Amino acid sequence: MNRETKIISSENVIDAANSIKCGGLVVFPTETVYGLGADALNPKACMDIFKAKGRPADNPLIVHIADVGSLKDLAKEIPDEAKVLMDRFWPGPLTMIFKKKDSVCDTVTAGLKTVAVRFPSNETAIELIKNSTGFIAAPSANLSGSPSPTSIVHVTDDMMGRVDYIIDDEGCEIGIESTVLDVSGDVFKILRPGAVTFDDIHNVIGDKIEDIPVAKNVSVPQCPGMKYTHYSPKADVTVVCGSNEATSEYILNILRSNNNGKIGILSYGSDLFDDAYCVIDAGCDMREYAKGLYYNLREFDRLGVDKIYAQFCLEEGIGIAVKNRLFKSAGNDIIYV
Ligand code: TXA
Ligand code: MG
Repeated sequence: MNRETKIISSENVIDAANSIKCGGLVVFPTETVYGLGADALNPKACMDIFKAKGRPADNPLIVHIADVGSLKDLAKEIPDEAKVLMDRFWPGPLTMIFKKKDSVCDTVTAGLKTVAVRFPSNETAIELIKNSTGFIAAPSANLSGSPSPTSIVHVTDDMMGRVDYIIDDEGCEIGIESTVLDVSGDVFKILRPGAVTFDDIHNVIGDKIEDIPVAKNVSVPQCPGMKYTHYSPKADVTVVCGSNEATSEYILNILRSNNNGKIGILSYGSDLFDDAYCVIDAGCDMREYAKGLYYNLREFDRLGVDKIYAQFCLEEGIGIAVKNRLFKSAGNDIIYV
């Protein structure tokens, strides 16, 4: 580790692209979360990603491309329905998993026969990919287990001294990672929910996507990476799930019986928690909840909170992805009221 990290603006993206070409590590913005990138064609550089993050070697990386034509160099087969999804959702927050070509290295795929590919929409990400080798392997730019970074402060908290460049630029307007869709089998399956939802995909390709509850509401880990502890701030998280009235009442009772713990509340639609040590408003809809989720979880740590109660009400759309991340951050400590 121990790299001299340069923080640059997107005007100097070429410096970062050159670093990638020479085997360097670069943190860059995307529309979902910041990525920690290296040349996907360089196994040694990809190995360095795992070291910088402290990531288990059996958790594969997503290869980021900046034009649809690059996909043929990675994927052995591209199903017609996947082409339709690419037309509709790329560039954007949809990762697809294809049978891989032999040329894709085992370090990227963690030895799997498939490869995850994403074409991000963030302009700086696109510039970086185009000006490097055209293929950037990148997980989220957090230390393994922590919430993904969606602000430059959280990137530097985790990655100073571990990477060569950090590109300080706007992004992360979605706030949680891309949808991961496996298109390598007879039916397509959502492995990780995200901003592109089951319904969005079903509307385009119909029953080619598996129509079972697990696809709409992924609570069982599907990706190799989803079995690890995830998205966890240092403070313990409990999710209180139910109607606004019932969750507010439950949390107020906790606050009334609290003696001296520093309780933080992630509130959703209530302004009743004055007695808490701190309250962060999750926003007024699930898009805002998603956008701020990781930032807010890390903010509670900065404020020195011991215990977080997150007010939550299951909603459709991106709410499914919020549920998936929030429940994992709570280590499944969920209270239904
Ligand atoms: O939005 C995103 O996807 C962000 C930005 C930086 O693009 N990236 C991201 O990467 O979230 P990461 O590594 O944190 O999550 C990738 C997930 C992991 O759960 C991993 O196990 C899964 O995708 N994955 C990667 N390749 C796979 C494969 N061949 N088969 C199944 N799952 C795979
Ligand atoms: Mg991640």
